[in-house]
Amino acid sequence: MEINNCAAIVTGGASGMGAATARKLSLAGAKVAILDRDLDAGKKLAAEIKGIAIACDVSQADSVENAVQQAASFHGNARICINCAGVVKARRIVNQQGPMPLDEFREVIEVNLIGTFNLMRVAAAAMQSLAPLNDSGERGVIINTASIAAYEGQIGQSAYSASKGGVVSMTLPAAREFAQFGIRVVTIAPGLVDTPMLKDIPANAREALIANVPFPHRLVKPEEYAFLALHIIENSMINGEVIRLDGALRMQAR
Ligand SMILES: NC(=O)c1ccc[n+]([C@@H]2O[C@H](COP(=O)([O-])OP(=O)(O)OC[C@H]3O[C@@H](n4cnc5c(N)ncnc54)[C@H](O)[C@@H]3O)[C@@H](O)[C@H]2O)c1
Repeated sequence: MEINNCAAIVTGGASGMGAATARKLSLAGAKVAILDRDLDAGKKLAAEIKGIAIACDVSQADSVENAVQQAASFHGNARICINCAGVVKARRIVNQQGPMPLDEFREVIEVNLIGTFNLMRVAAAAMQSLAPLNDSGERGVIINTASIAAYEGQIGQSAYSASKGGVVSMTLPAAREFAQFGIRVVTIAPGLVDTPMLKDIPANAREALIANVPFPHRLVKPEEYAFLALHIIENSMINGEVIRLDGALRMQAR
């Protein structure tokens, strides 16, 4: 699918992989709407890439409905939707303080899993009414972000792994459902990416994590996620799949 002139929505577009993808999409000629709960950072980037920023909490139904509508009023209905909004919380199910408060588990699920589903349902509903773009009948593409923690969650990652496992699992049924409308659904499962999300990890723990990455022996760059996202958009045969982006990393138990 061609990117030039398409309206694009990037949740979590104010930071990290979302920001890198918003930049690359704009360079490729897309009209980019950044949906993020950090409106200040979103506005800064939007000014740089001549896009728009809209305050949005992906876990809330009405927030996403309003934001998608607002984005459409500026750019038209989006044909490209990238789900990058996410949060990470590390905590054992039971630690010295006792069992994990249920609300901590719930928050991670609400943002990472329900938030991804939320944009997917609203964006796909709007995309279905658009004219097909090419002979294949393609109308658009939705790219979700899981994590390799969906497969090899470490101790303390139960909530995060559960949320990302859900994103992995809904990729195929969503792609199957939207096939009749020419809408693809693809998920990227990154390894360890050098973004603000990793900023709270102490330097020694960071080194220990990098030590396990076979090749390239370093963290993933957010731009490498963006490269893959743009390739997925342009390559119409990639559909219903989860693609790891991790330098062959397989995380250990701790
Ligand atoms: N950094 C990593 O190592 C890594 C690895 C695998 C997967 N991921 C996933 O990739 C995605 C992007 O992460 P990142 O590393 O770029 O993180 P980041 O912290 O740099 O960016 C996340 C963005 O999401 C926004 N956000 C958080 N909760 C939100 C909500 N409820 N509504 C709207 N926006 C919200 C934040 O404001 C922020 O701008 C996340 O889903 C994350 O779980 C990250």
